[in-house]
Amino acid sequence: MGMSVLARQFGHPRGLVGRLVGRGMARGNRDFNTWVVQALRKRRDSDGVTRVVELGPGPGVGLACLLDAFPRAQVWGVDQSSAMLGQARRHNAPAVGAGRLQLVRGGTSAVQGFAPLDLIVAVHVLYFWPDPVREITLLCAALAPTGTLALGYQLRPYMPRMAQQEFPRAGHRVYEADDEVRYVFTEAGFIDVDIVVKGPADAPHGRLALASR
Ligand SMILES: C[S@@+](CC[C@H](N)C(=O)[O-])C[C@H]1O[C@@H](n2cnc3c(N)ncnc32)[C@H](O)[C@@H]1O
Repeated sequence: MGMSVLARQFGHPRGLVGRLVGRGMARGNRDFNTWVVQALRKRRDSDGVTRVVELGPGPGVGLACLLDAFPRAQVWGVDQSSAMLGQARRHNAPAVGAGRLQLVRGGTSAVQGFAPLDLIVAVHVLYFWPDPVREITLLCAALAPTGTLALGYQLRPYMPRMAQQEFPRAGHRVYEADDEVRYVFTEAGFIDVDIVVKGPADAPHGRLALASR
């Protein structure tokens, strides 16, 4: 299998290969997703968070963390990949059965349907938006007046070599510095953007950009 095929699978996992990629993400991104939700829990009082969307949840590890951290919340997981929605469903079967979690096929425009949202989270999704300002503008419009948008990402220099080389070739957009991410948020209408880093500065595990309306 070519590396560019693999790079495309991260943006939209499909079929058998997509399901294997999903399993890899569930393992490889678990710690980062856990850290992202802990950071959100510190920022937001859990009682005030009742409507949450995770966009691009992939295999659903982050959804499980969100359901735990915000026990009063109705949660929607919105992903364009039916293979990933299947894994997310299996990973969170009790919450789906209880009606606390709904899994929906779609993208940013589907998120509008669940407004007003207290929290919108998307981890390792930013690279797959050809026009991130447009996407973030739409997400901003779906937030409640006190809502928070949280995007987890990695900068290109710290990505695995495969992603550094193949994401741009596959048409994905990689970011060299936090200022590029900050710029996208401000162009989309956010005024204050906080960026926090997981791990050591010279070998970070990932970053989280947080913005409130
Ligand atoms: C690299 S995976 C990350 C999955 C998970 N958030 C994690 O951290 O492991 C990206 C996920 O976002 C989804 N995705 C990418 N672009 C999307 C879009 N425009 N709308 C909806 N889902 C999208 C993909 O289908 C995939 O499940």
